Amino acid sequence: MPNTVLVTQPLPDQYLARLAEHAELDVLDAGESLSDPALGTRRSACYGVVCTLTDTIDRALLKDMNMLKFVSSVSVGVDHIDVSALSVRGIALGNTPGVLADATADTAFALLLSAARRIAEGDRYIRDGKWTASNRWSPGFFLGKDVSGSTLGIVGLGPVGQAMARRAAGFGMTVASWTPSGRKVPGVCSLSLEALLATSDFVSVHVALADTTRNLINGARIATMKPGAVLINTARGGIVDESAVAAALDDGRLFAAGLDVFEEEPVPADSLLLKHPRVVVVPHIGSATASTRLKMADRAVVNAVAALRGEPMPYCVNPEVYAAL
Ligand code: GLV
Repeated sequence: MPNTVLVTQPLPDQYLARLAEHAELDVLDAGESLSDPALGTRRSACYGVVCTLTDTIDRALLKDMNMLKFVSSVSVGVDHIDVSALSVRGIALGNTPGVLADATADTAFALLLSAARRIAEGDRYIRDGKWTASNRWSPGFFLGKDVSGSTLGIVGLGPVGQAMARRAAGFGMTVASWTPSGRKVPGVCSLSLEALLATSDFVSVHVALADTTRNLINGARIATMKPGAVLINTARGGIVDESAVAAALDDGRLFAAGLDVFEEEPVPADSLLLKHPRVVVVPHIGSATASTRLKMADRAVVNAVAALRGEPMPYCVNPEVYAAL
């Protein structure tokens, strides 16, 4: 009897077919979730899990998953998974790097332009019937912020941060960065986080969520940002303090914010952020293009098939699990 792989969200048929050559598949139905108590033996019987960022895999969940040998997440971020809990049990974790930087940077730059030039706000204004003959055009109508000639501060210079830097250079921005790894990239000036926040007209967040980056952009740091700056976050919600962003928008410290990710997703309807006209929001769609999602599915399947064959995953987050092999 082949090993069972639990797939938490349906992948395109060709990817399921590739997996099915190596394992028995148990694909969850819409409405079922990995953490459902009702999943019982289906969860404890699985040898591998192919999941997404909406599946929390923590110690409690892992308790009854005694057969589990690998997890392959269709995501680059793995903050939904307790990596050390997997590693101590020798369970390999795969992710999907190298295929979503451009799509995510496009989303970040779209949010930047929309926040700077009040595009979403203008769209709502017209649809709400507020654009009338009496306010058709005036020199002070719907003024935004210049993008060209301004400074973009990038927090986190990994592949998405670097893709953002390339876009910003094309728009005539000066690009600065602070990155926990200390990485340097030609054309991007390295600054301390303090200097970056104090001097950037736009700040875009591109670090992974980890213990060291949780609440990195907190109230105290937002208070040091250049007055009238714009904050963009396409990384993870927990990195930015949302109530501090709302307060900084209210007191004018921030001109606007563009957010793809939230502390809680979906963002609660009563979030203060949603009440603010200068906040542009999209529902965690950073990598959501058809071709990027196919590439992510491909990486996830390549990882899972390697694990099913007893080989190391090519995109492995905790390669230390192979040290003993
Ligand atoms: C998306 O947010 C990802 O981590 O892939």
